[in-house]
Amino acid sequence: MSTPRYRILAVDDERNILKLVSATLKKQGYAVDTALSAEEAIERFNTSTYDLVLSDLKLPGRSGIELLDYLRSREPNLPVIMMTAFGTIENAVEAMKKGAFNYLTKPVNADELLSVAKEAIEKYDLRRENLSLKSELREKYAFSNIIGKSAVMQEVFDTISMVARSQSSVLITGESGTGKELVARAIHFNSERSEQPFHTIDCTSIPADIMESELFGHEKGAFTGAHERKIGLLEHANRGSVFFDEIGDLDIGLQKKLLRFLQEREIRRLGGKERISLDVRIISATNRDLEQEVKAKQFREDLYYRLNVVTLQIPPLRERKDDIPLLAQYFVEKLNRIEGKNIKGFEDNVLEAFAMYHWPGNVRELENTVERAYVLCPNVNINMKYLPPGLLALVESDRVESDTLNLLETEARLITKALNESGWNQSKAAEVLGITRKQLRTKMKNHNLLPG
Ligand SMILES: Nc1ncnc2c1ncn2[C@@H]1O[C@H](COP(=O)(O)OP(=O)(O)OP(=O)(O)O)[C@@H](O)[C@H]1O
Ligand SMILES: [Mg+2]
Repeated sequence: MSTPRYRILAVDDERNILKLVSATLKKQGYAVDTALSAEEAIERFNTSTYDLVLSDLKLPGRSGIELLDYLRSREPNLPVIMMTAFGTIENAVEAMKKGAFNYLTKPVNADELLSVAKEAIEKYDLRRENLSLKSELREKYAFSNIIGKSAVMQEVFDTISMVARSQSSVLITGESGTGKELVARAIHFNSERSEQPFHTIDCTSIPADIMESELFGHEKGAFTGAHERKIGLLEHANRGSVFFDEIGDLDIGLQKKLLRFLQEREIRRLGGKERISLDVRIISATNRDLEQEVKAKQFREDLYYRLNVVTLQIPPLRERKDDIPLLAQYFVEKLNRIEGKNIKGFEDNVLEAFAMYHWPGNVRELENTVERAYVLCPNVNINMKYLPPGLLALVESDRVESDTLNLLETEARLITKALNESGWNQSKAAEVLGITRKQLRTKMKNHNLLPG
């Protein structure tokens, strides 16, 4: 039995057919509205919401096809089923090409009508569910594999979406393990280049002399050992994106060559004469302070400005502590899928320890920490026992330190208050505080509160 929440609009100029169709559908629990013409149907469509439209092909005034066109232009996913008289099948085929969900031949068979209607509505439902799920995910996390609900990460997501729509070079900065590579991929895969290649080149691991031919390629015989022509990475990535990881490590000679490419948008393979123009988007990342390196003349200023048309700064994990429980849970669930265990999450004090720790290795360190605990832990929830000893020790010393700091702050506040209230009369203030004047003076000195 269908639920009455589904609403169908049936359109036909023959009243008895409308009656029959709507009785059949109503018996199954559908709500049915009827219209005698395309014009009337459009009016109803504009004042109500439907889950399905059933329409005769041949109508007075605007035809069924025109109605279909109209509906599809307004609500492309709304299923429309056409009804057609025997012998006018070509029209029905045309309607299918224009996006009708299906067609029924008249006289309409009740069972067929119900089964086609049910199918159409189910598919529409599923589709709406998927769409809303997707937009929910997009809203929540913007990019489903980059987790972050903190305001700073939401800003990063906004920038990614904006940058993805442009062609500009992007420089991603952030400490090690903050997710720079993940963001680089998100930019590419959310851009109109997403179907085109995405190549990564790690500037730390490739020696300068090899790097040049890696990037630009070479012709046969360009140097000893060049037995064949080789297509370089930039050429391979034509129409796509290249991600230069750790761009700060790029050899200074190559910096010049990359700059030339960015200016001219063409390359010449090593040992080749032909100029090959390429359309490649450059995304680069660094965990160094490139501006500083520019000042120290270790990185070319002109290249820096070319690469840095847009900067995306990924904040360290300790500056987005809201995200830690979310990320930790995400990693556990990922591991559950891979490892087949069924760990639910974390004990509260583990999450507290995570919140206190300063995560020098950022998200990568959190991921490793969770993975280690996951492997060792036999329980439903991960507890303190499975955290690395180093982390526990640091959290403990942090706790002591922050307690002491709090204490000192409170003391300074109390002293200042007592002094203000006594018009900075030290004896009076000391009396209020219940300490000797000498003790007060020592404390004032420690807190830098002594006048003059
Ligand atoms: N916001 C995030 N959501 C989910 N996973 C993340 C997030 N940020 C980082 N990660 C994960 O953390 C690990 C490190 O991320 P990534 O390699 O992108 O960092 P990076 O900044 O490039 O690090 P490095 O500077 O060390 O190269 C990866 O496994 C990545 O999937
Ligand atoms: Mg990286």
